[in-house]
Amino acid sequence: MNYFAKTDINYEILVWCKTNPMPTTNNTWLPDIEYCLYFREKGVKLNDGYDIKHKYYVQEINKLDKDLYGHPTIKPLKIVKSHLLHTTQKNDIILDPFSGSGTSCVAGKEIGRRFLGFELDKNYYKVSIDRLNGIDKNGQMSIFTDFENV
Ligand SMILES: C[S@@+](CC[C@H](N)C(=O)[O-])C[C@H]1O[C@@H](n2cnc3c(N)ncnc32)[C@H](O)[C@@H]1O
Repeated sequence: MNYFAKTDINYEILVWCKTNPMPTTNNTWLPDIEYCLYFREKGVKLNDGYDIKHKYYVQEINKLDKDLYGHPTIKPLKIVKSHLLHTTQKNDIILDPFSGSGTSCVAGKEIGRRFLGFELDKNYYKVSIDRLNGIDKNGQMSIFTDFENV
């Protein structure tokens, strides 16, 4: 059966507007929007909280995280965490089949969800495991917290 044709499925288009996109000069628009499609079967609960219910976020590409974890398309932890706080419950399992530097797993861990990540690239896999243990790509353990992006 075509899952998406079911009438009891709602969906939302969630948006990340990047304030510092890569400059492009090759006859295209700036790559300053990323979309996330969210599907929900009837009856699936969304959590309350004004701050976690936004459909769009305006935020820069976090150069610090890119450098710390060495992944070119790392997603903002703050946005991922917010979406997961809104859409999942304690002890739910978050599955990210393309987990990269492990952002969604880290977000899940920080908010008390279980998680499962698949990553093809051995280097990014190692980065994710280290990141989950609080270690950056240079083997440094951070004793600081970037509260702006928590
Ligand atoms: C867009 S990146 C994910 C970035 C991630 N959200 C983060 O914040 O770091 C997609 C990742 O999927 C991985 N990938 C591509 N094909 C895959 C596959 N068949 N199985 C597992 N991982 C795969 C790539 O190596 C890449 O790291």
